[in-house]
Amino acid sequence: MATRGNFSGRVGFILTAAGSAVGLGNIWKFPYLAGQNGGAVFLFIYLFCIFLLCYPVMVGEISIGRHAGLDAYGSYNKLGGPRWGYLGLFGITVGVFILSFYNVVAGWAFGYFLHISFGDLLSETDYSSFFGFFVNDILDLTSAEGLANSNFIFSAVFMAMTALIVGRGIQKGIEAANKIMMPILYLILICIIVYALTLPNAMSGVRYYLIPDLGELKIQTLFEGLKQAFFSLSLGMGTLMTYGSYLKKNENIPSSVAVISIADTSVAFLAGLMVFPLVHFLQYKLQVTEVATAGPPLIFIVLPQIFHEMGPLLGKVIGGLFFLLVCFAALTSTISLLEVPVAYLVDQKKMRRRVVSWGLALLIFVLGLPVMASQGMVPALNKLAFYKGQDYLVFISDMCDISLTVGGCLMCIFVVRQWKLKNMNEELSLGNPGYNASFLKKYLNFTIQYVCPVLLGILSIMIIIDKFFGIERVF
Ligand code: PHE
Repeated sequence: MATRGNFSGRVGFILTAAGSAVGLGNIWKFPYLAGQNGGAVFLFIYLFCIFLLCYPVMVGEISIGRHAGLDAYGSYNKLGGPRWGYLGLFGITVGVFILSFYNVVAGWAFGYFLHISFGDLLSETDYSSFFGFFVNDILDLTSAEGLANSNFIFSAVFMAMTALIVGRGIQKGIEAANKIMMPILYLILICIIVYALTLPNAMSGVRYYLIPDLGELKIQTLFEGLKQAFFSLSLGMGTLMTYGSYLKKNENIPSSVAVISIADTSVAFLAGLMVFPLVHFLQYKLQVTEVATAGPPLIFIVLPQIFHEMGPLLGKVIGGLFFLLVCFAALTSTISLLEVPVAYLVDQKKMRRRVVSWGLALLIFVLGLPVMASQGMVPALNKLAFYKGQDYLVFISDMCDISLTVGGCLMCIFVVRQWKLKNMNEELSLGNPGYNASFLKKYLNFTIQYVCPVLLGILSIMIIIDKFFGIERVF
């Protein structure tokens, strides 16, 4: 049998797993969620979720993957039999759906990068209408230029880059790409923050971001924090299980997970520190007290307007770098999402990596077409009757969020009831000789046995009730 491949070592694994974690979730979602949910209060809840729930789940996932040495389905199936195998298949399916919408949004960012760096996006005056027009420009067949500027092409190119990298294998493709993109990503982020902090009114943005507003503390803040933490750390669907299966036995899992979590959280935190000074600079320029920062408008409407205010040259440089950053963050995550089903077909069906990478990329691209069409072009998808009139993109992303916390909960149950904590501990003591006598072992065993399954179970049910019926009306 051909070898499955593995990571070259600790640095490669950590950068790659952090690459999966750092993505659109950090740069686009985290800042506006924090802004909407009381700034530092949200940050606090988020950190609480990471310590108590995400850290143990991530350790569990990676150790299952490394122990079994297989894809998500294969790992559950090998350690728990075919019934648990379904949990693996569920995760793989969720991954496919996440990638289907994630790639569309990544395509938008890629389109904006091209429009700012090589086009004249910065001479626009109304970015809100531009965005509305842009997302609905799906396939323009009237001219070659129109075609090249369609979302169909942006998203297809993004998916092709993903397939190209995944097709090259673990070390030569995935690890190599992450080793290049991740350091650049950090560098760009730091540069933009330093610049943003020098702008007029920047400190007002920092205050808004960091001073807790306890009035905003609602039960939904906890739901949002938990969903965001799971999504941001790529948990609950088998990404890290799959990556873990390529990890060598002498690597220390708990300490790598700590580094990965810190890397991810710091990028989310820094993204807020980049965005809010910029937003408050804009408020100052326009002499308004508030600009809308919720949802997609933040990076696709508000930020371009800010780059416009910076003037043609500086706006091009900062705006271009910003969207390059978003593209790198997104690409390191799409790679990890595609790897989940690819590993499944390679391990279970013995298919060739390159072939399945391109085949699955095509399939998932097609699954993304309704997402593109849901932004206005097809009214039925734009306003889903059964989902409070929200669009298909919101629906599918909400469903995936819920699946992640449910998947995390079931994984803990799997470890405790099927695989057994003893086996997990044995796996964790490889590469970490002091583990068995450590406090960390007690902490992990306690959280995985009691805290995570119970809390994740209760919260998942509450999130589902809230999504479909509104939690206030039920309780
Ligand atoms: N963690 C990624 C982000 O924050 C998204 C992701 C979710 C990637 C699940 C892989 C698996 O953008």
